[in-house]
Amino acid sequence: TRRSFSSFPYNRYPLDAPNCNVPRNIAKRVGTNLHRQPQHPLGILQRRILEFWQPHGFQLYDQLSPIVSTTHNFDHLRIPSDHVSRSPSDTYYLNATTVLRTHTSAHQHELLKTGQNRFLVAGDVYRRDEIDRSHYPIFHQMEGVKIFAPHEQNLIQSELKESLEQLAEHLFGQHITKRWIDTYFPFTEPSFELEILFEGEWLEVLGCGVIHPEVLAKAGRGEQMGYAFGLGLERLAMVLFQIPDIRLFWTHDERFHRQFASGEIVRFEPYSKFPPCFKDISFWLESAFHVNDLNEIVRDVAGDLVERVWLIDDFVHPKTGKTSHCYRIAYRSMDRSLTNEEIDDLQEVVRNRVVNDLGVILR
Ligand code: PHE
Repeated sequence: TRRSFSSFPYNRYPLDAPNCNVPRNIAKRVGTNLHRQPQHPLGILQRRILEFWQPHGFQLYDQLSPIVSTTHNFDHLRIPSDHVSRSPSDTYYLNATTVLRTHTSAHQHELLKTGQNRFLVAGDVYRRDEIDRSHYPIFHQMEGVKIFAPHEQNLIQSELKESLEQLAEHLFGQHITKRWIDTYFPFTEPSFELEILFEGEWLEVLGCGVIHPEVLAKAGRGEQMGYAFGLGLERLAMVLFQIPDIRLFWTHDERFHRQFASGEIVRFEPYSKFPPCFKDISFWLESAFHVNDLNEIVRDVAGDLVERVWLIDDFVHPKTGKTSHCYRIAYRSMDRSLTNEEIDDLQEVVRNRVVNDLGVILR
């Protein structure tokens, strides 16, 4: 039997405090640590990745608290004070200066400061985001950092790309289709992303780059250079185990868990494809509307019964200039058939919450 255990410090950070936007269904999962469960696909994957880096002298930190300051999550990483990722529509705030980490990069500064030169950080990260089969408000990352000696500095970029390609081959074999994309992160320069082809779609599985000199300087390592990368464990595990929906990582269904009891990489055999049920909701927007607030309500009401939420119509009234959005919600359980009545009930609660919490007018 699997028990959920929350280590969220409700006393220190009351969920109903004015600056707190963490819903109960997120707080109760803090401390679950799926990545530390050896028979869970995320735990199996973490171990496989560790196997790759350990011989190179990397030290793993997988029990650092996901509750971090905005200084560590953003400022030390040169994320500008007006960057969208800091907005409460994107990030879970416990109070004005404390967040659920949005990435494991939040720990770079403290570990660099202690003088670590090769380390990995694995943990749960939190983002308010869209709802579909590869997005979930809690997911897991594995961060890696390597600092080089001054005479090795011309190797950094090529070693970074080569070792991550080797890692991809260590995990997936030679046949995997991958590509590098140039990108931007405030804390690395240059920066890259690696994408992997999965069921006809390019999935971004990691971000990386040469650590920005200012990040090192702020940690008292100004004269040194190195690389950093952040892997998305769910994305990699979905490809590796052929897991079709990110919600499955959170299921308690034994038909899921018994498939991984051996702790090995095996292809997931879907035990069911229950039919989805679609419901639309249309409303006139208020200026403060953010789609992530709608997503949060749907998750709060329907939990893991929601598969996807997406905009299907965007209309501006020619006379009033008001905007109306229509969203389609796909409900589907991973574990059982849903009845029409229960979906109608959920949708009714969603409609009421949207009116009460977001102040919009239903059409
Ligand atoms: N923190 C980045 C993200 O979450 C990934 C990253 C890690 C990029 C380290 C560069 C270096 O998207």
